[in-house]
Order: sequence, then structure tokens, then C-alpha cells
Amino acid sequence: MARIIPVAVFDFVVFGATGDLTLRKLLPSLYLRFRDGQMPEDSAVIGAARTEMDDAAFRARAEEGLRRFLPKETVEDETISRFCARLRYVQIDVTRDGPHWKALGKLLDPERIRVFYLATAPDLYGPICAHLASAKLVDAKARVVLEKPIGHDLPSARAINDEVGRVFSEAATYRIDHYLGKETVQNLLALRFANTIFERLWNTDVIDHVQITVGETVGVEGRGGYYDRSGALRDMVQNHMLQLLCLLAMEPPVSLDADRLRDEKLKVLRALRPMAAHEVAQATVRGQYAAGAIEGKAVASYQDDLGEAAGADPSRTETFVALRAEIQNFRWANVPFYLRTGKRLPQKVSEIVVQYRALPFSIFPTDGAGPVPNQLIIRLQPEEGIRLSMMAKDPGPGGLRLRPTALDINFEQSFGMRFPDAYERLLMDTVRGNATLFMRRDEVEAAWTWIEPILEAWGAQSEVPKLYPAGSWGPSAAVALMARDGRSWHEDLG
Ligand code: BG6
Repeated sequence: MARIIPVAVFDFVVFGATGDLTLRKLLPSLYLRFRDGQMPEDSAVIGAARTEMDDAAFRARAEEGLRRFLPKETVEDETISRFCARLRYVQIDVTRDGPHWKALGKLLDPERIRVFYLATAPDLYGPICAHLASAKLVDAKARVVLEKPIGHDLPSARAINDEVGRVFSEAATYRIDHYLGKETVQNLLALRFANTIFERLWNTDVIDHVQITVGETVGVEGRGGYYDRSGALRDMVQNHMLQLLCLLAMEPPVSLDADRLRDEKLKVLRALRPMAAHEVAQATVRGQYAAGAIEGKAVASYQDDLGEAAGADPSRTETFVALRAEIQNFRWANVPFYLRTGKRLPQKVSEIVVQYRALPFSIFPTDGAGPVPNQLIIRLQPEEGIRLSMMAKDPGPGGLRLRPTALDINFEQSFGMRFPDAYERLLMDTVRGNATLFMRRDEVEAAWTWIEPILEAWGAQSEVPKLYPAGSWGPSAAVALMARDGRSWHEDLG
């Protein structure tokens, strides 16, 4: 059992308190930290949103959400009622001045750490911070948490960062990317920097290429309004996937200090080779799901899923992206990184495949299985674990023939415990003041800088995203993207 150290007593204010993220992730995560004794009993969680509601109604809504979204074995009536007693609600129209900001101030204790969590549309981040400042609610212990997406391109991200930066220092600004809170993503740091064997074999001398796949079976799930303006490149690649790439590719930081780690990630983002407009068509694939079947059940197309969020013309938003990235530095020259992500793929799976180079020469008989290059497969979800594929002698007499086998570790089985949700760790980090697993302003902007030429080239193309049937691994062009380099996507995702 992991050691639980309670954090200091805090006031946690959530803007966007009636939204999906609050009910699905934030409140369940705070509850689980409360249940484990990490969130002190006296702390308060204050919901703020435009809807008119009193504390009792907010608590009822929260309780319903907890019962729906918590893992069954963690639902405890008595703990739920103690947790819900810590909840308060203020009705605030964040675009306006008014007495409601004072009402919020009255609920805050000057002795405590206060966290303002902004789970609203990003264009409201600036106005919320400005109102917090003019209502004098930002004290020395206050911090702000910004949900992704921070903007929809580089200029809008800069504008938001500027507006927030007028009120909160960079040290008090926590830009959340929940992938960094996933246990197995943090485990990448342990794998690389707590084991001698991998770091010595982590470069272009021995690695042929790297694949990162984040597949989801869900469609847009009622988030069409947001998603149709975003698409997979902005929703998944600009943040989650580039962060994974950074952790895989960065140089060893000198310590786990937030800025030392972020300095190294930033260097990777800056070393990404910018794509020229004429390369985008070859190096990227955009797809959109058509009707199909997932786990034997018929599912609708993206256009149909959009429902009321659909415009007059068919949407050109991508629900699938595959691309080839290159990192221009000593360690990674000539090692392409292939990224793919999509909605309505056959499996919910996040996986990194580090493919080693082929043997320079083989002494083994060529009949039967020849030596297959080693692969290190890092499974982020589900069934978190690590598999190292290797060649062994096929047992028995009759010559030295080879057979592929694997060293396989399943973390849940090895450690025998529930893996906490990413938000549990990250929310407590905001209270503790540990920004190691949050993105710094320059990282977010460097990621947008690399993404922008792709967005621009796509915008200039008359071509629409290629359709793929729901339940498939995306358009065939994604296979062609790798085949052109004589490579293929790792398929054994089971
Ligand atoms: C979110 C995206 O950031 O990540 C969603 O906005 C996506 O579209 C989600 O579904 C995936 O997160 P996870 O933790 O389920 O892999």
C-alpha cells in the first residue's frame, strides 16, 4: 500500500462546476483523495457556474455523479455524505462584475491554500482571472489550474497565457495535461532513468523507429460542439501525444524539479523538424469515422453523431490523425516517430512501441523464424505494463532455430493495487505546489508552433478527411504512411 501524506487544508474552486469534466473526473478524484485521508476533512470544494442552484442542489448533483462515475468498490455511503458536506456552490456569470464575486470571496478562508480550477471554455480564462484579481481573491497562496485546450492555435494560446499571466505568476499557473498524471506515463521516467539497461540503448544507434498509438472506441459523446471546432490534432496530438513523445525522447533531466524536467521536454519540442507545407500531405493522414461497428454493435458516423452541433455543410473535422515526426538532434537523427490517434477505433488502447534495429548479421539458419528485431512495448492503458520481445532458441533437438518470446510485466498484477486516476495525483499536486507534471507556458507554445504548419496546410487543402469505418484502425492511408518507409504499425494490440 502506498504511503498517503495528507496535503494542507485547502479551498478548491471549480469554474465550470456543472460541466462534464467536473462530474466525471474532478469530483470523483477529490472524493477518492478524501476517502484515502489525503484531502483534509476541513477542506472545501466550491462549485461556480452560471446555473442557478443552491448548495443542496449542487450536492445532490455531485452525489449522483459520484455514484455514476466512481469505481464501484470505492462507493461508500457514509464517506460520500461526509465529502458532499464539504461542497458549496456559488452562481457566477464569469463574464460580468457583480456581487457574486464577493459571495465567492466570503467562502474562502485567508489561511488556506486556494486553488482556482478553470474547467470552462478557454476564452473565459482571461476574464475569470481578471475578475478574481479585481475582487481581490488572488492572494499569495492562490494558484490557477488551466484545462486544455489552451487556445486553438499559437496566437490564441499566447493571448490566453498573457491574460492569465497578468494575474498569476508562471509559478502559480498549472496547465494540466492529464496524460502526465497517468501512472504508466510517470513510469516512463522510472523506466528510463531508474534502470541502467534502457538508457544505454535509447538512441539512433540501436532504435529504428518509435510508434505511439492512442486509440479510443468512443465517438464524440455529446461533445460535438467543442470537438468539431477542435479535431484530433488539437484535441490529442498537440498536448497528450507530444507530451508522451517528450518524455520518451528527452535527455535525462538533472533532477525531478519542475523546471529541470520541463527544460528537457521543451528542448525536444524545439528539436521537432517543422513540416513544410508541401510535406504535410505525405507526412500526415486525416480521417473521419463513417458508420460501422464497435464490439459487434452498430455505431453512427461522425456526421450523424454531431446532431445539433452539425453545421449546414458536412464537417471537415478529423477524428483520426496519423503522422510522422522527426527530432533533429544527435540522439534521434534518422529515427522517425509515428503517431496515430483516433475515435471509434477497434480498441481503447494507448501504447508506445520502441522498435530496435535489425541485427547487422545473422549466424542462424534461415529456415524457420529468422531473428525478428526486438521491440519494447510500453502499454499505458489498459492493462498497464511493459513487454520486451526477444528471440530465444526454439526448445528441442534438431538445430539452433529461433522463436520469438517476451519478457512481460503487468503492473497491476505485480503491484496488486488499484491504479489511481490521473486527476487524483494532479489535483493533489496543485495543492502541494508541485508543478513537475504540468506544462509550462513555453512548452505549450512550442507545441503549437510545431502543429501550426500542419493546421495551415490542411486548411489550404481542398481535400476532406478520408473516411474510415468505425471499428477499423483508420484510413488505409495510415498504413501507407508507414509502408512508404518500409515499416508497419504494431498490430498485436491485444
Ligand atoms: C481528452 C480529450 O483530453 O482526453 C478527449 O479531450 C479524449 O477527447 C480524452 O477522449 C482521452 O483520455 P483518456 O484518459 O481516456 O485516454
